[in-house]
Amino acid sequence: MSLCVESVSLKEMQVPLLDLAAQTAPIRDEVLDAIARVVDSQKFILGDEVRRVEERLAEYCGVRFAIGCASGSDALLLALKAVGIGPGDAVLTVPFTFFATAGAVTLSGARPVFVDVEPETFNMDVSQVAAALDRDPKIKAILPVHLYGGCADMDALNEIARARGVVVIEDAAQAIGSEYKRRRAGGLGAIACFSFYPTKNLGAFGDGGMCTTNDEALAERLRALRVHGRTGTYFHEWVGVASRLDAIQAAVLGVKLKYLDGWSERRACNAALYRKLFEARNVPVIAPRPGAHQTRHIFHQFVIRCQDRDGLQKHLKSQGIGSEVYYPISLHEQPCFADLGYSRGDFPVSEELARTVLALPVNAELTDQQIEYVADAIQAFYAQS
Ligand SMILES: Cc1ncc(COP(=O)(O)O)c(C=O)c1O
Repeated sequence: MSLCVESVSLKEMQVPLLDLAAQTAPIRDEVLDAIARVVDSQKFILGDEVRRVEERLAEYCGVRFAIGCASGSDALLLALKAVGIGPGDAVLTVPFTFFATAGAVTLSGARPVFVDVEPETFNMDVSQVAAALDRDPKIKAILPVHLYGGCADMDALNEIARARGVVVIEDAAQAIGSEYKRRRAGGLGAIACFSFYPTKNLGAFGDGGMCTTNDEALAERLRALRVHGRTGTYFHEWVGVASRLDAIQAAVLGVKLKYLDGWSERRACNAALYRKLFEARNVPVIAPRPGAHQTRHIFHQFVIRCQDRDGLQKHLKSQGIGSEVYYPISLHEQPCFADLGYSRGDFPVSEELARTVLALPVNAELTDQQIEYVADAIQAFYAQS
């Protein structure tokens, strides 16, 4: 009898990749109250609501200044403009990332230059950076990505950059709360860029983003650039953009920030349980193993590397399990970057990852039973193939 109940419940089990409704349910009233506060104030753009959350986020990231803007993509563009990147410059980044990283470089007028990533951490391979800078004197900035919530090797990058007078900007869109040698993402370069896209660990109810910095002059420039470069009433020192964080998003973020650490701890526990189950059962996939410098990983994504990735994804879907490929095409192979002159084979690790990575559900609302169900399904797939 109990076996029967068990098999019925497992058959009906669904494990979505992300469950934002489940995340919101327990805080729904609190969030609605915060939104009502903004509605009552009728102050929707920047203002006190945004300033308050900026102060709290700066403290959370361990930096002096946080500057809210309209999206993570805009945060990257603002950061590049703030450090003076523009036409004629080049920016060193990675081809294995979300499109916006290199897209922002192109939008700034500069040219993206790629170096490959490391297979274990998915992050910029620092051993390739010095040679890349030596090859291309136009490179004025390095833009590493803290992919999936794990930090790039920032001390090593900063050292190389300092020696050559090049600036480092963190793409920390996926890494809020992540710690590198006990220091938080956000204060590890000249400027860091965050995204509050709803699926991020700290997600708004729409688009939102933020730059952080410890440099007062850069903070001032970022504040001006997000409002058309305005430094006084109808006085424009630079040409900036319209990229403001709106007060409703700030209010939502202010509520969610209180829960962020709890959610990120749950994600890390879920990741540890996957690892334990894979090891105990000899499941033939490679689980992520953060580098030694990673003193806190926030597992924005839990990404395995595996054989027959597309077959596994199809099998998981048939079992009611969500998964996703971040990212199936390395940026040097995107049609819009054809004029950069790269070809297949130029970044073998990125290309291999594009073929083999698969993100599994890792959100804070998962039960241990659901994680075991996912591990069982993966084990069953490789046992039958
Ligand atoms: C690595 C990375 N950079 C930049 C961005 C852009 O952020 P947004 O979607 O808020 O514009 C994202 C968002 O997914 C990202 O993952």
